[in-house]
Amino acid sequence: MSLPAGQPVATGKVWFVGAGPGAADLLTVRAIRVLARADVVLHDALLTDAVLEWAPAADLIAVGKRCDGASAEQAWIDRALVDAARRHAVVVRLKGGDPTVFGRLDEEIDALEAAGIDWEIVPGITAAGAAAAAAGHSLTRRGVARRVDIVTPRIGRGEPGHEGDASGGWADGLSPSGTVVLYMAGRVAGRCARTLIARGFSPDTPAVAVRAASWPDQATERTTLAAMARGGLAVDGRPIVLLVGRAVAERRALDAVRRQFEGDRLIAAEPTPVVVG
Ligand SMILES: C[S@@+](CC[C@H](N)C(=O)[O-])C[C@H]1O[C@@H](n2cnc3c(N)ncnc32)[C@H](O)[C@@H]1O
Repeated sequence: MSLPAGQPVATGKVWFVGAGPGAADLLTVRAIRVLARADVVLHDALLTDAVLEWAPAADLIAVGKRCDGASAEQAWIDRALVDAARRHAVVVRLKGGDPTVFGRLDEEIDALEAAGIDWEIVPGITAAGAAAAAAGHSLTRRGVARRVDIVTPRIGRGEPGHEGDASGGWADGLSPSGTVVLYMAGRVAGRCARTLIARGFSPDTPAVAVRAASWPDQATERTTLAAMARGGLAVDGRPIVLLVGRAVAERRALDAVRRQFEGDRLIAAEPTPVVVG
């Protein structure tokens, strides 16, 4: 891989831009405007060509980083960003979803700061939101789920525990009173389900697996923790997000939970007569 030649500039600026989950019209207006001005775009592997068309004038550099981690060396990417910013005014580091979610953003920011290069983040639609939209569910729901946890069981290469974290420490603090959104968990869905059950989640907790949200091959599969604990999930290399919790129950079951809640609330909130005078 080599960088395209450019006239050296004092220093350019690097924009960390969220590419969204895949569909070319799920980027922000700001992202599209920055891409339109980009001289160079260093992009992850898991992006549609249609998204890259928002940067018609830019040199495109695939840095080969897939969402599941197979990648160009991070150190190479860090160096390439610094180098690009020394040659070009507008450098875009285009990351899938939102750059701040499992995006290894800090390593790249650290490299830029060490080199005195200016940077800015343009947020994107993270896979959790895209998956919720695909499944037709809210992640929060009154009386059902008042928190959302975005979590991954995956430990990156070089991190402590990478060789096999059987402790289920990733599940610390998760609660059945919320919605758990699991990233990078497709291949280990069975183990994740068993961990959650062992930590107090009911085996019949509903789950929806959303594969390739917003892509033409998007697919959703409705399941439960018990079913996943038994059989895992069929995976085929496409990205998967798992939504787990009562907020993603089938509508009829969800309505029953909500009616129950509203009933309780009505009783609890029985108005106290106000006596005037
Ligand atoms: C390294 S993380 C990057 C997440 C990304 N920064 C985001 O905000 O969505 C990659 C994981 O995100 C999830 N993911 C990303 N895009 C997805 C999509 N279109 N559909 C389902 N899951 C997706 C998968 O769990 C995948 O393994």
